[in-house]
Amino acid sequence: MPEAFGVRNVFKSFGHVEALRGVSLAVSRGEIVALLGDNGAGKSTLVKTMCGVYQPDSGSVELDGSSVRLTSSYDASDHGIEVVYQDLALVPDLSIQENIFLAREIPQTGWRGLIGLLDKAAMSSQSEKALETLAIRGVPTSVSVNELSGGQRQAVAIARSVLRATTALLLDEPTAALGVRQSDLVCDSIVRVAESGLAVLVISHDLERMLRIATRIVVLRRGQIALDEPSAGLTVKRIVEAMMGETAPTPAPELGK
Ligand SMILES: Nc1ncnc2c1ncn2[C@@H]1O[C@H](COP(=O)(O)OP(=O)(O)O)[C@@H](O)[C@H]1O
Ligand SMILES: [Mg+2]
Repeated sequence: MPEAFGVRNVFKSFGHVEALRGVSLAVSRGEIVALLGDNGAGKSTLVKTMCGVYQPDSGSVELDGSSVRLTSSYDASDHGIEVVYQDLALVPDLSIQENIFLAREIPQTGWRGLIGLLDKAAMSSQSEKALETLAIRGVPTSVSVNELSGGQRQAVAIARSVLRATTALLLDEPTAALGVRQSDLVCDSIVRVAESGLAVLVISHDLERMLRIATRIVVLRRGQIALDEPSAGLTVKRIVEAMMGETAPTPAPELGK
């Protein structure tokens, strides 16, 4: 099968800042690609370009071997591409289920749907199923989000996106601001999302966890790909060198000894 989802030779500038300078990247279905890089390297710009928030100045977004023009995030959503942002767009006072179906409630069939009655049974079973595939099974979907831990909330945000995604899930720093156990829970969820057959691209600063869960590691440096290799065989040291540039100054030899 051709590469599921990616970009080809993408350039994107903001005024005189060249955020992306000829980036090509492909993520297959079932694969987790970790997108790493120093602050300002262009990671978020790349993800926003892949989900229709930004349009590339040149180059293209590619879906199953053909270029697609994504004019908005809604457009990307219609192509089965969903994003989970670091700042969670969940409503704390609503339940898990209400959050998952926020703005996309399932109407009842027939006239009941036409007068605005919602199919609560369908929403309940779908949200339970979504959560079950993630790492927070066993939590009732009627629980309100403000009673959940940070990791559980992130899992709900992922569940919400996964229910709609048919091609790709993009995550921008999903474990930022989470503790160790909570980060593990989110990573478990990400692994399950990939196992379900989506192409997964995840931005993170957590090199060790990414080495553990990602199939491939891609490093962006000043808007260009500095490394794109299978994670097996890579070390944190190699990745950091790619992030900082191979030309990182070697420490001066100690004098006078
Ligand atoms: N909307 C924007 N307007 C102007 N400059 C931007 C905008 N978004 C990003 N940039 C600039 O583009 C570069 C890459 O930013 P970004 O993609 O956010 O990097 P990262 O996510 O890797 O930290 C930075 O120099 C940043 O200041
Ligand atoms: Mg960013």
